[in-house]
Amino acid sequence: MRNPQLTRNGELQHLLTIDGLPREILTAILEAATPFTVVAEREVKKLPLLRGKSVFNLFFENSTRTRTTFEIAAKRLSADVINLNINTSSTSKGETLLDTVDNLCAMQADMFVVRHASSGAPFLIAQHLAAMGLEHIHVINAGDGRHAHPTQGLLDMYTIRHYKQRFDNLVVAIVGDLLHSRVARSQIHALTTLGVPEVRVIGPKTLLPADISQLGVRVFHDMRAGLKDVDVVMMLRLQNERMKGALLPSPQEFFKSYGLTAEKLHCARPDAIVMHPGPMNRGVEIDSAVADGPHAVILPQVTFGIAVRMAVMSMLAGA
Ligand code: CP
Repeated sequence: MRNPQLTRNGELQHLLTIDGLPREILTAILEAATPFTVVAEREVKKLPLLRGKSVFNLFFENSTRTRTTFEIAAKRLSADVINLNINTSSTSKGETLLDTVDNLCAMQADMFVVRHASSGAPFLIAQHLAAMGLEHIHVINAGDGRHAHPTQGLLDMYTIRHYKQRFDNLVVAIVGDLLHSRVARSQIHALTTLGVPEVRVIGPKTLLPADISQLGVRVFHDMRAGLKDVDVVMMLRLQNERMKGALLPSPQEFFKSYGLTAEKLHCARPDAIVMHPGPMNRGVEIDSAVADGPHAVILPQVTFGIAVRMAVMSMLAGA
């Protein structure tokens, strides 16, 4: 079966998930992002690559970083950006997701950036557009349920490559609530596709999917053992809004065992970098001394997100 995110020629049609994307495409996005960093950092104001295109941001779930950096990225590519305010849209009157999409298509949309609490919502939109013969409209998944957050995974890879130069000699640990994390799934698929030889996941049994080792990762329940000699530590937020029932004794107990402190970080390599997709829960999954310390690259992740999102949007637009 053809990968639904690729055209018949193997080019990127939509960005729905990193799972199944060829390494060449991931590498091409990272390469394409590099020159955009001068625009992301405001050395160059704007580029005309998306001039005349309309990008609709459809965020059915809250966001600070993703929604804002997509908007900045689209504007710096000279697109017209429309942020649909879901709370004041006709969704609150019962309009379906696909009816909303049809109406925005009638307003000559060229690209949808979609965040939704339901896994598969961006895929559903992409399928619908194909059925309607609207293949020229592109869909970017900005985070769907527990499923995927591909641009977060890509900006994380960009950050790792920026600080470590290569992937094929790294040990990377992802720590915390992997069970509910779409970010972790995208990170694992990206890291393994790009050739990272050892990807570790660290967390309590209640917050790790039972079959996670099938994704090619090593499982650790002891944080100090899992962090031993790692090059990259990727922390995750406790996704309380997606937890059903009591999966943890308390946030304080979680912090004691799995919170990243300077003392636990000593187990990693001396030049290890510390990442977090945000939003952070200080004192729950990460101590402020680490979040604001010399190993943290958490704010550069956000800045790189602009360049990576510019790269994705311009590739989709064929620019
Ligand atoms: N990392 C991330 O997705 O953050 P937001 O929820 O603020 O977009």
